[in-house]
Amino acid sequence: MRSEAANGGPAAPEQPIPGDSQPDPGDSRAGRDGGRRPPLEAILLVGGQGTRLRPLTVDRPKQLVPCAGAPFLAHQLARAAASGITRVVLATCFRAELFAEAFGDGSGLGLELDYVEETVPLGTGGGIRNAAAALRSGPDDPVVVLNGDLLSGHDLSAQLDMHSKAEAAVTLHLEEVPDPSRFGCVPTDDDGRVTAFLEKTPNPVTNRVNAGCYVFRRRVIDQIPAGTVVSVERETFPALIAAGEVVMGYAETAYWLDVGTPEAFVQGSRDLVRGALSSAALPGRCGEALALPGARVDPAATVTGGTVVGAACVVEAAARVDGSILMDGATVAAGATVRDSIVGAGARIGPEVILDAAVIGDGAEIMAGNELRCGARVWPGVRLSPTAIRFSTDA
Ligand code: GDD
Ligand code: MG
Repeated sequence: MRSEAANGGPAAPEQPIPGDSQPDPGDSRAGRDGGRRPPLEAILLVGGQGTRLRPLTVDRPKQLVPCAGAPFLAHQLARAAASGITRVVLATCFRAELFAEAFGDGSGLGLELDYVEETVPLGTGGGIRNAAAALRSGPDDPVVVLNGDLLSGHDLSAQLDMHSKAEAAVTLHLEEVPDPSRFGCVPTDDDGRVTAFLEKTPNPVTNRVNAGCYVFRRRVIDQIPAGTVVSVERETFPALIAAGEVVMGYAETAYWLDVGTPEAFVQGSRDLVRGALSSAALPGRCGEALALPGARVDPAATVTGGTVVGAACVVEAAARVDGSILMDGATVAAGATVRDSIVGAGARIGPEVILDAAVIGDGAEIMAGNELRCGARVWPGVRLSPTAIRFSTDA
C-alpha cells in the first residue's frame, strides 16, 4: 500500500511512484530524451450532471467544484500529465463552455487539451465515441479513457504494459472496495483476463471493481456506434467479453477514490491537502490546512484535518473547522463548528452553528445555533433563521 487507501486501508505518506508527479527516469514515457515524450492521448469523460453532488453542481459540472484549492479536474489533469499523457480530449456536455474557460489549451498543466461537446448526453460509450473524432492516434495505438471524477495513484505505465503484452482490445484498471455493489464488478481469471462486467449489481461476485481508467485499442473505440446513447459499462464491455475479445484487468491497491458524493469529495480534498496523494495542482504545501490568498483565520480559531480555507474567507475566534472545504468568500462565525463539510462560495455560517457532514450551497446563510448533520444539504441562497434546525435537544 503506497498511500492512504481511500478505498479502505491504512494511512501512510505517499512514496514517489512510477507514473507519479516525479517522473520515473526508467519510464520512457516520462521523457529520458530531455523531457520530450511520445504522444499518449486520453479521453476524459466530464459530461455527467453530478446529481449526487447537488447543490454544488446545480450550475457547474462536478469536475469544476473546488477541491483542495483548485477545480477538481485540475488535480486529475495534473496527475494525467505526470503519468505520461500528453493530450486530452474532454468529452463535455452539461455546462460544456465552463471547461475551456477553466483550463484553456492546457499548457498551464503541461498538456494539450481539446474539447468535444455532446448536444445531448450520449452516455459513457457514446461520449467516448463522439470524442474520438478529435483523436490523432492510429488504429492500433493505445488510448487512455478516464472517468472525470477520480483520484488515483495507480501505475498507468504498468497498465499500458499489460495492455500491449496481452494485445488486448481494452485493459481496465481494477481496485478492491468494501462495497462493490456501487461500482462495476469485474471478475477475472488467473491470468487477469476479464470474465464478466456487472455494472452496479446487487450480487457482486468479487470486491474488485472497475476503477474508471481504461486503455482502449483505438480501433475498438471506432467500433462503438456513433451518434447514439451507449453505456460502455452495460453494453460495450459485456459485448466485447461475449465476443471473445481480450479484455484485461490491471489490478492494483493504490490510492483510489471516486469523488462523486459529498462525503467522498471532501475526503479527496483533505487527502490532497495532507499529501496522501500528491498533486502538482495543489496551490500550496501539504499540511493540516491550506489557506488561499486573502483568507483570514483568527489566531483563536482551530483549522485542522486537511481543511481548505478559500480565498477571502473569514474564520472567527473559537470557531473549529476540521476536514472541510470552505469555498472562496465563505465566513464562519465565532464558536461555530464545521466538520467534514463543504461550505459554498460566499456562504455564511453563524455563531455556534454545528455542521457535521453537511453541504451548504453558494451564498446560503445558516444563522446562529442551527445544527446540520448526516448529509444535510442546503440549497444556494437559502437563509436558515436562528436555531431553525437541530439534530439534538439541547437548544
Ligand atoms: N461525455 C459524457 N456524456 N460523460 C458522461 C456522461 C455522458 O452522457 N455520463 C456520465 N459521464 C461522465 C461523468 O461526468 C463521470 O466523469 C463519468 O462519466 C462516470 O460517470 P459517473 O456518474 O461518475 O459513474 P459512476 O461513478 O456511477 O460509475 C462509473 O465509475 C465507477 C468508478 O468510479 C462506472 O464506470 C463504474 O463501472 C465504475 O466502477
Ligand atoms: Mg463516479
